[in-house]
Amino acid sequence: MQAERSTNNLSFEMTDFTTNYQPHADDQMLIANAEAALANAYAPYSAFHVAAALLLDNGVIVTGTNQENAAYPAGMCAERVALFTAASQYPGEPIRKMAVVARRDGAKDFSPATSCGSCRQVMLEFEHRQGKPFQVIMLERPGSWLQARSAASLLPFSFNKSNLSEP
Ligand code: THU
Repeated sequence: MQAERSTNNLSFEMTDFTTNYQPHADDQMLIANAEAALANAYAPYSAFHVAAALLLDNGVIVTGTNQENAAYPAGMCAERVALFTAASQYPGEPIRKMAVVARRDGAKDFSPATSCGSCRQVMLEFEHRQGKPFQVIMLERPGSWLQARSAASLLPFSFNKSNLSEP
């Protein structure tokens, strides 16, 4: 017997994103904090410096930068360094917004850096933990910022803790 086949035409609501976003003054400020943190990236292997800045509900800004290692997989992305630092130093303080910037060694302009899948997975769990979404601002293309209204919107069909519970 022939297995039944069905085709799903998947479409995504893009209303959770603003592309070609022109950052507002407070977003510019968060981007500037991330840019300043770029100096703390340790990226001798990729020469790709990344920084993330988090604005917490209490007004504190926490930054993180990529930290590479000669054993490549042991390194860590900027986003996760920032998120884990925030959870460790300000436990329970919700995240309101995240800005991510990147720059190649010696370059003048930012490089586009849309967070990797593992970072999106971690962002998603932070969002679940705090019970409300946070905005994510990243450079999608030169001169074109992307603003996502939630981490969840960056990771459709995600794996999350409900997958682990008994059906
Ligand atoms: N990286 C980040 O820190 N965040 C991203 O969103 C993408 C990639 C880092 C990992 C590695 O140190 C370097 O950039 C090149 O992949």
